[in-house]
Amino acid sequence: MPAILNSSLFLQHPLFSTAVLSLRRHHLNISLFSRINNNTLRACSTSSLSSANQNVRTGRSGSVSSPPVENDTAQKIDVNPPKGTRDFPPEDMRLRNWLFHHFTEVSQQFGFEEVDFPVLESEALYIRKAGEEIRDQLYCFEDRGNRRVALRPELTPSLARLVIQKGKSVSLPLKWFAIGQCWRYERMTRGRRREHYQWNMDIIGVSDVTAEAELISSIITFFKRIGLTASDVGFKISSRKVLQEVLRCYSVAENMFGRVCIIIDKIGKIPMDDIRKDLQSADMSEVAIEELLQVLSLKSLTKLEEKLGASGEALSDLKQLFSLAEKYGYSEWLQFDASIVRGLAYYTGIVFEGFDREGKLRAICGGGRYDRLLSTFGGDDLPACGFGFGDAVIVELLKERGLLPELSLQVENIVCSLDQELQGAASAVATILREKGQSVDLVLENKPLKWVFKRAARINARRLILVGKAEWEKGMVNVKTLSTGEQLEIRLDELE
Ligand code: HAM
Repeated sequence: MPAILNSSLFLQHPLFSTAVLSLRRHHLNISLFSRINNNTLRACSTSSLSSANQNVRTGRSGSVSSPPVENDTAQKIDVNPPKGTRDFPPEDMRLRNWLFHHFTEVSQQFGFEEVDFPVLESEALYIRKAGEEIRDQLYCFEDRGNRRVALRPELTPSLARLVIQKGKSVSLPLKWFAIGQCWRYERMTRGRRREHYQWNMDIIGVSDVTAEAELISSIITFFKRIGLTASDVGFKISSRKVLQEVLRCYSVAENMFGRVCIIIDKIGKIPMDDIRKDLQSADMSEVAIEELLQVLSLKSLTKLEEKLGASGEALSDLKQLFSLAEKYGYSEWLQFDASIVRGLAYYTGIVFEGFDREGKLRAICGGGRYDRLLSTFGGDDLPACGFGFGDAVIVELLKERGLLPELSLQVENIVCSLDQELQGAASAVATILREKGQSVDLVLENKPLKWVFKRAARINARRLILVGKAEWEKGMVNVKTLSTGEQLEIRLDELE
């Protein structure tokens, strides 16, 4: 039974020990006092102490850390946000809004509806069998109700959960987009952080590669809007069915497929000897491994056809996608690259990644088909594909190309009273303008005109509206157009 005792002085008081004894006598087990704030003490029973200790256990490493002990002396805090996370001061927020605005407009141009999910999800949503990196990077912990929860590292499992929950009440195909913050305990490199925002577009209910073609078209539309061309960025495209066909040829068990994909995705990140060892432990023979590695090095569909024959699904999907790209008019953005498999276990067909042609940055975006994800959560499978597009690499790329937009603060009007007694009148003028849809920065303190002009320049105001006694008595204000210096007395009811 928690009891709230007000006053920290109480702890030092002789009556305190008597009170504890008395509570014990009444079978109330008091063993921990944790200070909530300077004036409030919360008493926790021994049982709540053990669960409190469990609650501070974080992450997969199982390390247990205690919360810092509070003391009464003021402490200098670290003013930086936690490693790998960001603040968004106004100038960064303007850039973020600009980016999100384009994400949203492109999605809407393609007829997608916006959705969102909680940042905190059940940990079970991310526990998949294949040994993905994303699982080791999970920010997970036990909440106060002893539930295992995690900060979402991606949006796709939440989307799958919602699709299952909606069941037959939604009409297919679903075309959904979302922009949300994701958390991964990553090794920090350029464009990779511990928190990032991801733009996702997903199509549920279409099994044809027309869906992939439409998704890639939307990303290209976005690139073009922000000034990037096919000589700046491109897409590497492959299909996991290529791997599947090779594995089938060498009788590798179907249930090894996800694991093999994850191993292949590590090529270039870990030594080749380790890749070979991992493939052997996934039941692949030496011959199968060599054949697989050879296929992965292919960069043309003609060569792939020579290797796999013309009849497989992998080739027909890829051919159809490249042919649709021609119709859309974006072939020059695409290239076949069999080494692209992607690091998430759930992809089943076409996979793609956006890359910068100078090769300086990590993947700009990535996605693919995941036709069997829903059944791993106990739902009925539906054909599905989508992509995730982070907010970090793209900003790095725009910086590199000198394409970052100039986004300055812009408030249309600055309103200022010339006399402290007219502050109320100035508020009335601000209200009139705001009700007419104009933005107004109201000067809230009695400031010299020099300061007001400086501020007007900083906020890029178009007009300065001065409320002076003589004009106000006539029901008028003084309106100065700042670009020309033109100054007019305008009646309040004519103020636009
Ligand atoms: P992903 O490849 O793990 O795929 O992430 C997609 C994109 O998110 C990456 O290409 C990158 O732009 C960004 N991103 C990922 N991790 C970080 C990080 N630590 N820091 C900064 N940016 C990052 C997925 O998440 C899939 N769920 C995408 C998807 C949606 N597939 C189908 N639908």
